[in-house]
Amino acid sequence: KTGMFTYDPGFLATASCESSITFIDGDLGQLYYRGYPIEQLAEHSDYLEVCYLLLNGELPTPEQKKHFDYTVMRHNMLHDQIHNFFRGFRRDAHPMAVMVAVVGALSAFYSDSLDINDPRHREVAAFRLIAKLPTIAAQAYRYNRGLPLSYPKAGLTYAENFLHMMFSTPVEEYKVNPITARALDRIFTLHADHEQNASTSTVRLSGSSGANPFACIAAGIACLWGPSHGGANEAVLKMLDEIGDVSKVADFMQGVKDKRYKLMGFGHRVYKNMDPRAAIMRDTCHEVLNDLGLHDDPKFKLAMALEKIALEDPYFIERKLYPNVDFYSGIVLSAVGIPVSMFTPIFALARTVGWISHWSEMIGDPTMKIGRPRQLYTGAPRRDYVAIDKRK
Ligand code: SDX
Repeated sequence: KTGMFTYDPGFLATASCESSITFIDGDLGQLYYRGYPIEQLAEHSDYLEVCYLLLNGELPTPEQKKHFDYTVMRHNMLHDQIHNFFRGFRRDAHPMAVMVAVVGALSAFYSDSLDINDPRHREVAAFRLIAKLPTIAAQAYRYNRGLPLSYPKAGLTYAENFLHMMFSTPVEEYKVNPITARALDRIFTLHADHEQNASTSTVRLSGSSGANPFACIAAGIACLWGPSHGGANEAVLKMLDEIGDVSKVADFMQGVKDKRYKLMGFGHRVYKNMDPRAAIMRDTCHEVLNDLGLHDDPKFKLAMALEKIALEDPYFIERKLYPNVDFYSGIVLSAVGIPVSMFTPIFALARTVGWISHWSEMIGDPTMKIGRPRQLYTGAPRRDYVAIDKRK
């Protein structure tokens, strides 16, 4: 029994740690950030308020929220020399390759937030990472497109600033569509944390050795990149493009059953019911496509056809394969004009607060020890060395 939750012994055997940040019930499809249901946070909160909640454990007062938003805004610029990193890449570098490199390199620029034993260093590192990840992601996109690097702007919300940094040019200010900004802020909130997923576990394992927070988050970004994890939203759009149109869905689904393809955006290691984030994302998808007059979007129609079959077909029902958060987030991002190459970077910048909250929780625990997973050895039994001229 931990707090208000009781676990069966089988589950306890699989738990890698204790944490008070996020609760998931995969059978019931429940997700709480610090006890608050994700549905209520998606409806009533905004991403920076969710960041405050994940980091501090409580919702902020109006003064705390104002100070938190101001502090994040104050840290959102990059040391000017960091701009040289972007120029060292080929123009066609994937933005995730740039983010892994540049975030890791931050540890060479901010020596006043490297001492993991100093709470003040830990706090400033958290602010810097939450504030600078959107700036770094936006510059990776701009460098890809041959655009001059851009700067954040005061007076914009977190999502508005990200869009501004991505799309504004010196000759034309990007006009932020409130629908796009709201949808993006909600995507940030839904991706903010998710218990001990692969990338969060990577950050915790890296942090347990005493590595600095920037290096740990770079490790998390590298892990998230995989198509089975954060790269799934990009893979969903590629899958929809490969299927082409609704007439090809039946053949594709047969290919999934024959194990020739995975149905990207479906299935989850923990949720054996609908991912609550996917349900919220599905509603957001409908809202955005309606508001933007894109409900006849062929990609959305194709996605709905896939979803309908998957939710009715015994093959998927038996395997408890439901749409996950990535299935709809890719369609929303595509509808609001975000290029596919930026889908996983957006997941990474949103998840940074979850990673750094788990890192802080672990580092702040005086009983913390270095992580050291063990294995079952299945290799050769003990044997003696054979000189090369004696080998057959
Ligand atoms: C995220 O952990 C997290 O919390 C992650 C995340 C987060 O917020 O951090 O939620 C974000 O990563 C969501 C998942 C995004 N990935 C994808 O959408 C990629 C497609 N999904 C699959 O790769 C897969 O579903 C996984 C990796 C997510 C889970 O794989 P598991 O644990 O192997 O799934 P399972 O054990 O439940 O599989 C049961 C059966 C197997 O078939 P059988 O051997 O029983 O015949 O279902 C099959 C699997 O092969 N299966 C799929 C499938 N996922 C599982 N078959 C087709 N398409 C799929 N997507």
